[in-house]
Amino acid sequence: MRGRRRRARSVRTPRGRCAPRPRFPPEQPVLIQVHACGVNPVETYIRSGNYARKPALPYTPGSDVAGVIECVGEHVTAFKKGDRVFTTGTISGGYADYAVAAANRVFPLSDKLDFRQGAAIGIPYFTAYRALFQKGRAKAGESVLVHGASGGVGIATCQIARACGLKVLGTAGTEEGMNIVLRNGAHQAFNHREANYIDKVKEHTGMEGVDIIIEMLSNVNLATDLQLLSYGGRVMVVGSRGPIEINPRDTMSKESSIIGVSLFLETEEERHECATALLDGIEAGWLKPIVGSEYPLEKVVKAHEDIIHSSGARGKMVLVP
Ligand SMILES: NC(=O)c1ccc[n+]([C@@H]2O[C@H](COP(=O)([O-])OP(=O)(O)OC[C@H]3O[C@@H](n4cnc5c(N)ncnc54)[C@H](OP(=O)(O)O)[C@@H]3O)[C@@H](O)[C@H]2O)c1
Repeated sequence: MRGRRRRARSVRTPRGRCAPRPRFPPEQPVLIQVHACGVNPVETYIRSGNYARKPALPYTPGSDVAGVIECVGEHVTAFKKGDRVFTTGTISGGYADYAVAAANRVFPLSDKLDFRQGAAIGIPYFTAYRALFQKGRAKAGESVLVHGASGGVGIATCQIARACGLKVLGTAGTEEGMNIVLRNGAHQAFNHREANYIDKVKEHTGMEGVDIIIEMLSNVNLATDLQLLSYGGRVMVVGSRGPIEINPRDTMSKESSIIGVSLFLETEEERHECATALLDGIEAGWLKPIVGSEYPLEKVVKAHEDIIHSSGARGKMVLVP
């Protein structure tokens, strides 16, 4: 279904020849003066050249900007000069003073949030919502373990899951990270750098196990995750930085599932669904991005080093031009 929808189809031209139909409606560009841009781990993978998706060069990273609209393309009606906005994607790259984005990737930024918080919404919150609901089929009353809850996606997942009636467990690698996780929706926090923390999770969940695990480091945790699940539980593979050996039998005994999540594959309709829920969350007050570290644009090299070799996340990393 997805493949069919995305493939370019041919249309008849007036001369009867076939010409490729554009895959998406023509882009309606807006120019944004960038006030802050989120840094996501994927931008370091792409920059290193070792990622499956290789951008056309020259490439400027950055999909999640927040700022003020400078001007809009002639067919853009949803926005005007001076509007405060955030994006979930840019055409020209967000690590910049100005960025061009297609209007369908631009959303109004509520006065309740500052620009740095606006730059923390895009990839983290849209991924969290996709992992929980569009792929994980989470329901109120279920339990979720956010394995890696102190970073951009983790805090977003805790806030959304708590607001939607799930029982939320989260992990972090520092005391400070655990406190942030607890303040952002988790009922219970564990330290994933402690040797016996898995036993503590098991003690907490008892025989029942946990219904969903949102996994940020699957290459380290997937084998153990399978043992923490409830009957019919699912592990959502959000982050992974390498291979891991698992015992497939662990899925048989509980009829559990391992499900990959890729925000990149989100359809227009799914993005719309997600945006509607998240904008509601901002208005209702439960969606409040936590900005951990902030770097000036000229220190982006350091930001890329620090996000990969972090000594402990404390929320979202942002760049400020
Ligand atoms: N599939 C997708 O579409 C998608 C979308 C967005 C992000 N991602 C991926 O998801 C991952 C998280 O992204 P992010 O933006 O939240 O990154 P981030 O802000 O850098 O956070 C990384 C998180 O991983 C945690 N972590 C470190 N060691 C861990 C361990 N042994 N077990 C569990 N968690 C551990 C960190 O905790 P401490 O620092 O407290 O130790 C922190 O909470 C990245 O790998 C990213 O590439 C995937």
